[in-house]
Amino acid sequence: MPLVTGSSILDAARAGGYGVGAFNTNNMEITQAILEAAEATRSPVLVAVSEGGLKYGGKTLIDMVIGMGREATVPVCLHLDHGSSFESCLRTIRMGFTSVMIDKSHEDEATNIAETKRVVEAAHAVGVTVEAEIGRLGGVEEHVVVAEEDAILTKPEEAERFMAGSGADYLAIAIGTSHGANKGKGRPYIDHKRIREIAALLPNPLVMHGASGVPAELVARLNAAGGDLKDASGIHEDDVREAVKHGIAKINTDTDLRLAMTVAVREVLGAKPKEFDPRKILGPARDLMRQVIEERMHVFGSAGQG
Ligand code: G3H
Ligand code: 13P
Ligand code: ZN
Repeated sequence: MPLVTGSSILDAARAGGYGVGAFNTNNMEITQAILEAAEATRSPVLVAVSEGGLKYGGKTLIDMVIGMGREATVPVCLHLDHGSSFESCLRTIRMGFTSVMIDKSHEDEATNIAETKRVVEAAHAVGVTVEAEIGRLGGVEEHVVVAEEDAILTKPEEAERFMAGSGADYLAIAIGTSHGANKGKGRPYIDHKRIREIAALLPNPLVMHGASGVPAELVARLNAAGGDLKDASGIHEDDVREAVKHGIAKINTDTDLRLAMTVAVREVLGAKPKEFDPRKILGPARDLMRQVIEERMHVFGSAGQG
């Protein structure tokens, strides 16, 4: 079936009280893992490509993802992750992306609203939906002074103003998560009260970036196979489940796939020094990524919704 917009997947998720994964891809094996997991669990899915991914794989990567996505029997959206400019969004829309993120969260509120609005007008004119972001992604300690927390995390009244002014379709909010494999000491603190307050003001799907679980078992396997990943920590599954209950509808995962791929490649190369068939090296990596994605689709609640 043709690729669908982000809103067509995410509006249903927010209304239905479940979350849908946006998984980052950079190559064929990752894309296969994402789409095979979506088919196996009957999940709608967003396949995300960052500007770095686009630079790495070029238009060839995008044409391949579109071709593979169209073969799927569950709803698939092709999403630009962290688009940095109007030009970048336009360029990817022209390539066939059905959802774009314009990330001007580092700018002041007025600039973020104006730049996002510009993208929204262009994207909506050609049937593409838009994610925007406010707040600063980053870990916070539980019970820090509210003023300090507010400097980083998304303020509910600002979120309301921002969506009214920009017309964006779904909103990434800062609630204590951060990108990468080191999300804080112990179990990162997630500000669930803040999610509830934002969701009470906005009917739009809310987006959780930096949501990888960084499973301890994968980290242990990585290090046992010669990797060196210290102080690793991710978002607890229960925090993701609770966030979904309160209005998070799109959950971004990249780090867990990077981890799974590297674990499997290291394990094969370590166990089979004579192996040099790329399919025997990347095949197990694809299988492990698929397993990780399927597990997450069950946690998000998207399984059975596609
Ligand atoms: O949020 C960032 C994503 O993990 C993409 O990372 O820009 O290195 O492709 P990247
Ligand atoms: P992770 O680094 O937690 O996987 O987050 C990815 C992300 O937010 C992509 O936009
Ligand atoms: Zn992100």
